[in-house]
Amino acid sequence: MSADLVIKNLHVSVEGQEILKGLDLEINKGEVHAIMGPNGSGKSTLANTLMGHPAYEVTEGEIWFKGQNIVGLSPDQRSRLGLFLAFQYPSTIPGVSAANFLRAAVNAQRGQHDASGNGDRKKGSIPMREFRQLLKEKMALLKMEPSFASRYVNDGFSGGEKKRMEILQMAMLQPEIAVLDETDSGLDIDALRIVSEGVNQLLSPELGVLVITHYQRILDYIKPEYVHILVNGRIVMSGGPDLALKLEEKGYEWVKEALTGD
Ligand SMILES: Nc1ncnc2c1ncn2[C@@H]1O[C@H](COP(=O)(O)OP(=O)(O)OP(=O)(O)O)[C@@H](O)[C@H]1O
Ligand SMILES: [Mg+2]
Repeated sequence: MSADLVIKNLHVSVEGQEILKGLDLEINKGEVHAIMGPNGSGKSTLANTLMGHPAYEVTEGEIWFKGQNIVGLSPDQRSRLGLFLAFQYPSTIPGVSAANFLRAAVNAQRGQHDASGNGDRKKGSIPMREFRQLLKEKMALLKMEPSFASRYVNDGFSGGEKKRMEILQMAMLQPEIAVLDETDSGLDIDALRIVSEGVNQLLSPELGVLVITHYQRILDYIKPEYVHILVNGRIVMSGGPDLALKLEEKGYEWVKEALTGD
């Protein structure tokens, strides 16, 4: 049987320049994978391509999720299928409160899941009371102040607060495969622990996670079974958790030397 998410020979161009050059990766629900790689190697390009960002053009290859090649699906279709991306640089949405934003996101997703084909999207919308309860629960999980919910999305949020908002979204949307793009960057030591513990509490046999990071530290909390190294648009090495430790110790020169056999 093939994996839940299968990325095959993925080639992606941005503004006419090829960034991903034949990337292969398989992730199952219930697994935690980490991707590490130098700046500019294509990690965020992979994340954005998985979500269907229009600036990222798939020129070759396939992305299989739940039995279909999702290349060509819109970001919201992918979200409804159960993919989620926590952005490296989350956007601000002035004028829209975090609570309203999250409710709209949850409803958009449920509308599809529960749709009985009669086009009645209201059918799947979450009752206000249930939404408030869920939000309260998830915010407590991430140790977020209740006042967060009424603030405009990311408007004036600190770097760490934005990252926490991303994970709150993940907690509310309950995806099947989640990509966390440098969720650890900008988090102070306590916040890193709290956010990681929040992610860990979301882990289940129904959730697969891809953690993109530069540092071993987040992997001390969110423990990956698989670590992949992305260099120049390709996964050049895969291994267990020890690979991240080795990388921290020896740097990317070691990977390059190992590859060329020097
Ligand atoms: N939207 C875009 N417009 C122009 N160039 C882009 C865009 N997205 C990515 N690139 C280019 O693609 C290359 C890979 O970028 P990407 O953001 O995927 O790297 P990364 O591995 O995530 O790096 P970092 O560790 O710094 O986050 C870079 O040269 C970058 O400038
Ligand atoms: Mg990046």
